[in-house]
Amino acid sequence: MHPLETKQTVVNLKKKKKAGEKISSVTAYDYPTAKVASDAGIDMILVGDSLGMVLQGYANTLKVTMNEMIYHTRMVTSADPLSLVVADMPFGSFHISPQQAVENAVRFVKEGGAEAVKLEGGRKRFKTIEAIINAEIPVLGHLGLTPQSIHALGGFKTQGKRKEKADEILADAIEMEKLGVFAIVLESIPVELAKQVTAGVSIPTIGIGAGKYCDGQVLVFHDLVGFTNLYQPKFVRQYANLYPVILEALKNYIKDIHSGDFPGEKESYPISSKGTASPPYRRGYR
Ligand code: KIV
Repeated sequence: MHPLETKQTVVNLKKKKKAGEKISSVTAYDYPTAKVASDAGIDMILVGDSLGMVLQGYANTLKVTMNEMIYHTRMVTSADPLSLVVADMPFGSFHISPQQAVENAVRFVKEGGAEAVKLEGGRKRFKTIEAIINAEIPVLGHLGLTPQSIHALGGFKTQGKRKEKADEILADAIEMEKLGVFAIVLESIPVELAKQVTAGVSIPTIGIGAGKYCDGQVLVFHDLVGFTNLYQPKFVRQYANLYPVILEALKNYIKDIHSGDFPGEKESYPISSKGTASPPYRRGYR
């Protein structure tokens, strides 16, 4: 039995808040991560523009393009995950006009197979959010630290510590629920503010660096499994430390190539073997 039992939808996720059930979310940028996330029972997969930092090695997310995001979204949806798949609208894909935003959100659904989109920002984006929802595409909001605004914010800084900013975040969340967003990501805000926002709206809040009172949590997959040995923000909990495991595996591989131990008989095709070699990762591969 699959831990998710059924395909997750925006309607399911909203019901979870009403039932007092916590929501799990993680980023995935490709087929194998989407598959393992779904197999584990993750409710919502976010194809985050964090891939600009995690996969592409940039210092921030600003260079990520629509075509790159669609490419990764397609890889994720190829896994047919039971998790809800949300695609992140990259910087510049929704800032020019609501029409531009709708066109790009439609591309995510038509070309990427996304089931919803996420976009960063509060009051400045209300018209855009409304236009995308009017095009029948569910929207996940994103308040607090919005990494696409780092130049305006002066860096990756916790938001909502001062009363005016905290009041703005709460008011924006309440208005975004009225506009019809199905949930809101709260990134790097004080625990008390996240608690207030979570109590102030009837849609789920999904926290990252926002404490335990949110209705759900999201983490970047590569941080969660310790894929790299790079700096990790304070809010990350590492559930595995894969980097040294991968490093050791690669070192052993190099050693075996040098010693001639790899490939051995088991990994080679004798002239008498029947059938053809199947490429790995093919569906139905045995
Ligand atoms: O891009 C991303 O992965 C995100 C999450 C960290 C919320 O926005």
